[in-house]
This record gives sequence, structure tokens and C-alpha cells, in this order.
Amino acid sequence: MGVTRVLFVCLGNICRSPLGEGIFRRMARERGIEVEVDSAGTGDYHIGELPDHRARSVGAQRGCDMSMRARQFRSADFQDFDLIVVMDHANLRTVQKWAGAIPGKVRLARSFDPNAEDEVVPDPYYGDVEDFEEVATMLEAASGGILDEISAEPAKR
Ligand code: 4NP
Repeated sequence: MGVTRVLFVCLGNICRSPLGEGIFRRMARERGIEVEVDSAGTGDYHIGELPDHRARSVGAQRGCDMSMRARQFRSADFQDFDLIVVMDHANLRTVQKWAGAIPGKVRLARSFDPNAEDEVVPDPYYGDVEDFEEVATMLEAASGGILDEISAEPAKR
């Protein structure tokens, strides 16, 4: 029996997935659920960078550690994580085509939110801080749903 390992994935790993990582880690701690969490990008544009300054500020205001560094998704992630949470359909397609893919492990973040009005967490990179706030709110709802699922089926491996 191990802790559930969750990986958040977006394109750049500097906006949406680090917010997902930070929010999910904070909410798991608040609920007393032990998890391992990380994030990655399908692209290699921002490897080694801190999250975007707007993601850092919105995450920090919501009590999240935002000191992670961007990395690219890798084939080993299919073995190293129980659940791979993607933001949009482009992420989903890219990850499912990756070498070593285990497609059943990959799900859209908002599929965990029963009240979601759309399937995707939109890319806020070319938006403003309001867009980052909306992304964070979507990821809080999604993280709540993921944690509900983890607590309903403990020890999946
Ligand atoms: P993210 O946003 O996928 O939420 O991290 C993006 C950040 C940077 C780029 C694209 C999306 N970019 O093309 O540089």
C-alpha cells in the first residue's frame, strides 16, 4: 500500500500545472490525505524556470508553495505516477501519444469537478491575473474531486 502519486501536466509547466500541484498539495494536507504530487509540461520551452509571476502570486495568495521548477513530461512518469491530470485536449492527445503511454492513467482535470461548465482549464499565459484566478478556482474544484476519489478508493496499487 502506498500513497497516491498525482502528476499535473500542461504545456509550459509554468502556469496551470504548477498551480494544480501547489493547490492539490495544500488541499491534501488540509484534509490529512498523504499524496505525492509533481507537475510537468509537454513542451520544453521553460525547463528549469520558476512558475510565471502571476501563477506565483495567485498561488501564494491561496496558501500554496510555488517554488517548484519546470520540467518536461517523460515516459517514466507513466510508471512513477498513479494519475496524470491534464488541462486540455491538446495535453491529453500529446501525453497519450507519448512513448510508454498508459492512456488509462490520464484524465482531464475538470472531469473531477461535477459542477464544471467546460471540459478544459484554458491557457492563461496570454491573459491577465483574472485569468489566473479563474484557473486557480477551477483547479481547487478539480483537486477537491480528485481527493474525494482518492479517499473513496484508497490504496489503488
Ligand atoms: P501553461 O501555459 O501550459 O499553463 O504553463 C503556457 C506557458 C507558456 C507557453 C505556453 C503555455 N509557451 O508557449 O511559452
